[in-house]
Amino acid sequence: MTLKGKTALITGASSGIGKALAILLQEQQAEVIGLCRNTSQLPAGVTPLQGDLSQAGEIENAFQQVHSLDILINNAGRAHLSPLTTGDPAQWQEMWQINVHGLALCAQKSLSLFPETGGHILNISSMSGHRVPPSGGFYAATKFAVRAVTEALRAELKNAGNPTRVSSISPGFVDTPLLDIYFQGREEQLQKTRNTMQMLSPEHIAETALHILTAPPSVEINDVLIRSADQAV
Ligand SMILES: NC(=O)c1ccc[n+]([C@@H]2O[C@H](COP(=O)([O-])OP(=O)(O)OC[C@H]3O[C@@H](n4cnc5c(N)ncnc54)[C@H](OP(=O)(O)O)[C@@H]3O)[C@@H](O)[C@H]2O)c1
Repeated sequence: MTLKGKTALITGASSGIGKALAILLQEQQAEVIGLCRNTSQLPAGVTPLQGDLSQAGEIENAFQQVHSLDILINNAGRAHLSPLTTGDPAQWQEMWQINVHGLALCAQKSLSLFPETGGHILNISSMSGHRVPPSGGFYAATKFAVRAVTEALRAELKNAGNPTRVSSISPGFVDTPLLDIYFQGREEQLQKTRNTMQMLSPEHIAETALHILTAPPSVEINDVLIRSADQAV
């Protein structure tokens, strides 16, 4: 399967994993639309779509500007170190709005834009949606919710006879700017992690996404757990 002639909307294509995805999909001759706040940071060739995913109204407005789609990659996300015992509830709210509510709303909005033969929704989840690291806090709660949303959506579509496929990728550490925010106040720990582990790169995740998106139409890859070979948990 090729991506030639396909249109993919990628949320958070201005940085990290989303940027690598946008570059790779364009190399595969897909048309790429990038939905984010800082559209000036989108890779060349990507059609910019301005929107803050923490604001439902901005998601609605953004999708009104899109006329057809084959692929939605729900990639945008925020990660704060925000423990349940001491964390700032405003950070919980922000993570919930973007990582879960925004993701689910983008999925709902994309359905009417897909062809009758079905589209493909790929959610970028996390290993933190499979096990809770001791410092995982509210971030892990949002990624467990992404796993539930992914599976619920898949089941609803099957029950409705909708051929749209739903997939997810659950990465461990990927070296992107997100980690600088997640490790704020724990910079030494991040440095130690970077020194002792060869982290995944955004390109590793993009290659995995391409494998999922180009699987034969009768194959739906549901989740890929992917970690650095150096990452123990
Ligand atoms: N890095 C890791 O170790 C890791 C591991 C597992 C899972 N993940 C997941 O991978 C995904 C991508 O993360 P990354 O590491 O590539 O992070 P990143 O480099 O920080 O990029 C995050 C992207 O999300 C967008 N974004 C953030 N807040 C937004 C908002 N309110 N509205 C619209 N877009 C927003 C940003 O765009 P703007 O700022 O331009 O809006 C940016 O393009 C996330 O879902 C993350 O949870 C990352």
